[in-house]
Amino acid sequence: MTIDSREFSRRRAALMEGMEPGGIALLTAAPEQVRSRDVHHAYRQDSDFYYLTGFTEPQALLALAPEREEGEVILFCQPKDPHKELWEGILLGPDSAVATLNVDQAFSIAEVDHIVPELMAGRERVYSRIGADPDFDEKVMGWVRGAREKARLGGPAPGQFLLLDELLHEMRLFKSEEEIRLLEKAARISAEGHRRIMQFCRPGIHEYELEAELLHSFLRNGSRAAAYGSIVGAGANACILHYVSNESRIQDGDLVLVDAGCEYQYYAADITRTFPANGRFSAEQREIYQIVLRAQTAAIAAVQPGAPWDAPQRASVQVIVDGLLELGLLSGAADEIIETEAYKSFYMHRVGHWLGIDVHDVGRYKHGEDWRPYEPGMVTTIEPGIYIAPDNEDVARRWRGIGVRIEDDILVTTSGNRILSEGIPRATEEIEAFMMAA
Ligand code: GLY
Ligand code: MN
Ligand code: MN
Repeated sequence: MTIDSREFSRRRAALMEGMEPGGIALLTAAPEQVRSRDVHHAYRQDSDFYYLTGFTEPQALLALAPEREEGEVILFCQPKDPHKELWEGILLGPDSAVATLNVDQAFSIAEVDHIVPELMAGRERVYSRIGADPDFDEKVMGWVRGAREKARLGGPAPGQFLLLDELLHEMRLFKSEEEIRLLEKAARISAEGHRRIMQFCRPGIHEYELEAELLHSFLRNGSRAAAYGSIVGAGANACILHYVSNESRIQDGDLVLVDAGCEYQYYAADITRTFPANGRFSAEQREIYQIVLRAQTAAIAAVQPGAPWDAPQRASVQVIVDGLLELGLLSGAADEIIETEAYKSFYMHRVGHWLGIDVHDVGRYKHGEDWRPYEPGMVTTIEPGIYIAPDNEDVARRWRGIGVRIEDDILVTTSGNRILSEGIPRATEEIEAFMMAA
């Protein structure tokens, strides 16, 4: 299951459509990163570059030059090199790139300094991700100088610099059918991993053993990596929002919070479940869990086309505040607690974020001062939580150290929404029955 090269062409065409006349867009592949001495981190293409090309090799540059006679889409990539390929694997090379990636022209990356100034000459504005990579910004300036020299005999050279991000990220916010299929596949694989560990878990094992089971599940289903560092937090570790050391031993009576999702063909899942290590919620854990579940249900229901981005945020806050008041963990008037954000010592993060090629995906949340409305094709996580710090002396001891988050991936549709991350027990009875059946 991959994306057809024609879809990448459509994306490039749409981007060019959005550019001002006389523009050229330049986008570079992600740099390789050293992990230790001769060893690199597993290479992952830059998300924007991937979105526009589907090309996963490093050392590449994409130039989009609308209405250029010899071709609008120009790719620079590593040339074929039998010696390098013997050690590191097959390179696509410029000759094959044209057909495989559906681009108009392709050249060796060694030729950028020579060719890019030519592409720029006669154009007035350059679109790039200014500020994202200072080395690349400097290169762009060098090419502009080259273009000026070429233009000395007449004709314009770029004098205006525009941020590519705005145009591109607005496009990425709206997922195509093919993208939704991949997000769904990522969610389905991740759901299988979550089910596996719910049934694998028992007191006495380590958090990293659950992480290992998750990764096993992801990789055996065709994912090549987790979309982000898996969070496996038992007991009070669940109260550390981005806990990734995953080294503790899981105790009888702990809740285990697992926030993990795979990346599949560059698309991320982001799912959290919280379950009792021994298969049975304690009374306090159940109370807290049920508030979070109600908050999540209310927040998901609030994800509707036309509703403002913060509708689920407000829905989740209302349920959590009411629930904590009922349990006596907060006191006072709900409205005032919401107004003063006093609930933030228990629920301190946002209800969700866009999801796509990046786990915290691109796209604006506001138009000016106002939260933007949900629209069909957007995908967001919905992930409320309650975290009672182990040293919170304002609450009775029996509540301390309980951390619960429930997170699912939600597609906005024309009629409402659809949960992409279905198939993992969510209600307390479902979780208990499912764990018991292991
Ligand atoms: N896994 C990070 C998050 O849920 O945003
Ligand atoms: Mn998450
Ligand atoms: Mn998330």
